[in-house]
Amino acid sequence: MGVSIEPVAPVHADGINAVYNPYVRESAATFETEEYDLKAREAWIAARTNPRHPGFVALEAARVIGFANAAAFDPRGAYETSVKVSVFLAPDAKRRGIGRRLYAALFDSLGRADVHRAYALIVAPNPASVALHEAFGFARVSTLSEVGRKFGRYWDVMWFERRF
Ligand SMILES: CC(C)(COP(=O)(O)OP(=O)(O)OC[C@H]1O[C@@H](n2cnc3c(N)ncnc32)[C@H](O)[C@@H]1OP(=O)(O)O)[C@@H](O)C(=O)NCCC(=O)NCCS
Repeated sequence: MGVSIEPVAPVHADGINAVYNPYVRESAATFETEEYDLKAREAWIAARTNPRHPGFVALEAARVIGFANAAAFDPRGAYETSVKVSVFLAPDAKRRGIGRRLYAALFDSLGRADVHRAYALIVAPNPASVALHEAFGFARVSTLSEVGRKFGRYWDVMWFERRF
């Protein structure tokens, strides 16, 4: 069975949560500390209709095995042409080129929206994420030291920027 990449739709809400919530619980790759429930994820999916903030899922045998999306960099108006991007895969979906396929769809879509800068905030260390972002034209602009605390310790965050 192949893997398909599709725009996010309400039917993917449970599947996206099944990929993402384990990272909330167990990983510093996301600084979120509260798991998404169905209602919160449905609202998140509804926000993906903004052409600057699209989302895509990777599906294998009708199961969500990963997703990527853009979101507001900051709600203040002058920031509207800047977005934050992120990508998360189920453990069995890693290292199969699926992150690359999700980002290809995401950046194809962003290239058609009025987006001028994309940012990725990568919690250090994360060589897989750094490699993927560099492959899509991101360059590191800064590292924020110990800017977040999760699991009782502080973490550095690398800021990556992509220009359009
Ligand atoms: C980061 C992540 C999305 C990468 O997706 P992926 O599908 O495994 O990556 P791909 O197979 O598409 O590979 C993309 C590039 O990253 C490289 N890469 C992937 N995993 C790597 C690893 N563990 N170490 C070093 N490089 C790695 C690949 O070699 C490839 O580079 P290349 O094309 O130059 O060879 C995935 O590992 C993941 O979901 N990680 C956990 C969540 C996370 O950290 N998300 C990012 C938050 S900022």
